[in-house]
Amino acid sequence: MSERREPFLDKFRLSGKVALVTGASRGIGRATALSLAVAGADVVLASRKLPDLEAVAQEITSMGRRSLAVTTNLRNLPEIDNLVKKAVDEFHHIDILVNNAGGNPVFGSVFNISEKAWDVTMGLNLKGYFFLSQAVGKVMRDKNAGSIINIASEAGIRPSLGLGVYSMSKAGVIMLTQVLAQEWGQYNIRVNTIAPGLVKTRFSEALWGNPTIRRGFEDSTALGRIAEPEEIANAVLFLASEVSGYMTGQTIVLDGGHFASVRTLLSTITSKEDSSA
Ligand SMILES: NC(=O)c1ccc[n+]([C@@H]2O[C@H](COP(=O)([O-])OP(=O)(O)OC[C@H]3O[C@@H](n4cnc5c(N)ncnc54)[C@H](OP(=O)(O)O)[C@@H]3O)[C@@H](O)[C@H]2O)c1
Repeated sequence: MSERREPFLDKFRLSGKVALVTGASRGIGRATALSLAVAGADVVLASRKLPDLEAVAQEITSMGRRSLAVTTNLRNLPEIDNLVKKAVDEFHHIDILVNNAGGNPVFGSVFNISEKAWDVTMGLNLKGYFFLSQAVGKVMRDKNAGSIINIASEAGIRPSLGLGVYSMSKAGVIMLTQVLAQEWGQYNIRVNTIAPGLVKTRFSEALWGNPTIRRGFEDSTALGRIAEPEEIANAVLFLASEVSGYMTGQTIVLDGGHFASVRTLLSTITSKEDSSA
């Protein structure tokens, strides 16, 4: 039995692979970078602040893996080119790309969205994902192999009130995933998306840090809690590894069952039925 199990678990191993993770200095990106390193990958880390990246790089090198921190503003195309050049100069290939750095500068009605807010949101969440994928895709094409994982959001499937442009950008990421998967399958490049629900990171602290809002999320989530960043990283590991070798163009919704938002309503009905029985 163990003879069967060991080769299967080997399929999760990423020894000899190079991963590039954006937004790797904290939150989901940091958890992902560490998880890929635990599985054996060397990791290139990108975000805007070098000291934060270097702290993560240090954690990775202490595991015996190699790591390279590259300060990059992913809204800026020359900085994207610089990131890919530095990664290739150092490691000669890139096997895994995790497009994760994202943000939302404004909250509220779409009536109040300025052109600047639109450009900032789309520039990072969609344009940045596209042009980094394009640059890394060329490197992967030369090796006839690669896995690209895009972090979208459940807001890209069902709009989040007050997060209109963010929701549109994440819907774009889901279509970007399908477009690239369709075109690049011939180069053995797989492209998939993870659409998380609420995750405990700095990005979403305004939501989970407010007890009333947090309770609303928990009550409308089948598992009754929000996610930890490591739970998103686990799914990235699956998509990065050979275990998911036949999967491309897909979106994994990782929301603890938030789509089961009728849970509270159903439990009310069920308890009424129980009391009248
Ligand atoms: N947390 C949630 O509830 C949640 C839910 C669904 C989807 N998501 C998605 O998950 C992804 C990661 O979010 P998170 O929650 O982990 O956020 P986070 O903790 O705020 O981390 C964001 C990361 O992105 C980097 N970043 C921000 N702007 C950047 C830019 N212009 N160029 C390069 N790097 C930039 C940040 O580092 P610097 O500031 O140093 O640049 C940081 O490393 C995002 O795409 C987000 O939309 C999050």
